[in-house]
Amino acid sequence: MSRIRTAGLLKMKQEGTKITALTAYDASFSKLFAACGVDVMLVGDSLGMVLQGLDSTVPVTTAEVAYHTRCVRAGAPEAFVIADMPFMTYPDPATACFEAAELMRAGANMVKLEGGEWLVETVQALTQNGIPVCAHLGLLPQSVNVVGGYKVQGRDDDSAKALIKQAQDLQAAGAQLLVVECIPSALGAKVAKAIDIPVIGIGAGNQTDGQILVMHDMLGMNADYLPKFTKNFLAGRDSLSAAVEAYVADVRSGAFPGPEHSFNS
Ligand code: KIV
Ligand code: NA
Repeated sequence: MSRIRTAGLLKMKQEGTKITALTAYDASFSKLFAACGVDVMLVGDSLGMVLQGLDSTVPVTTAEVAYHTRCVRAGAPEAFVIADMPFMTYPDPATACFEAAELMRAGANMVKLEGGEWLVETVQALTQNGIPVCAHLGLLPQSVNVVGGYKVQGRDDDSAKALIKQAQDLQAAGAQLLVVECIPSALGAKVAKAIDIPVIGIGAGNQTDGQILVMHDMLGMNADYLPKFTKNFLAGRDSLSAAVEAYVADVRSGAFPGPEHSFNS
């Protein structure tokens, strides 16, 4: 598979080819995902939940994300790898740059951070220092203690408009990719139209420019709680490769996510 860079992702959006993404945390899975044609791998701070058994992403550190980024990079030398900047590692532009540098040295191609217009200067600083940025809007798991729970975002007119404005501001600041989490499908479609950079959705309907899922969810490993927007692609299949290939095919064709995996309003 040829090496994907930010320009390649932009071209996919322009050509209408859906971007396929999964979280990855180790070399065995990153190797498998690369072989199955997954375009983007995210070393998510979701590792706090799926690897460490915690109940939020808040305790995760840069050193932990860097460790898993090294593992993912080792298994997939050519992959496009995004690393999450953990909780409170980007309170100001300078701190963000030093923390992000650790993730880039570990093998990331891009870092992701959660938040809106208050991150404009931080995104500018990162980009100016050679660190590509993926923004993240909608449900912001690192803010769970302020928000008071994991809820669908952007349901009313004002918050939907605010989210679109934030996406535009972050793009103007230099962000080259955007993840939107748990928003109504119609808003997912609007955000993808409102900006030029690719928008990758999770629980955001099938009109975004691509999809991402937590790998454990799409392999049906969180048996006691599977969020509405995920699907067990291993069900009825006899190998991990078959499950991942089915995910890639269903994202590309637009079959996933279906209405049953999406929020209406
Ligand atoms: O940490 C993570 O896995 C994420 C995805 C859900 C987008 O941020
Ligand atoms: Na995350």
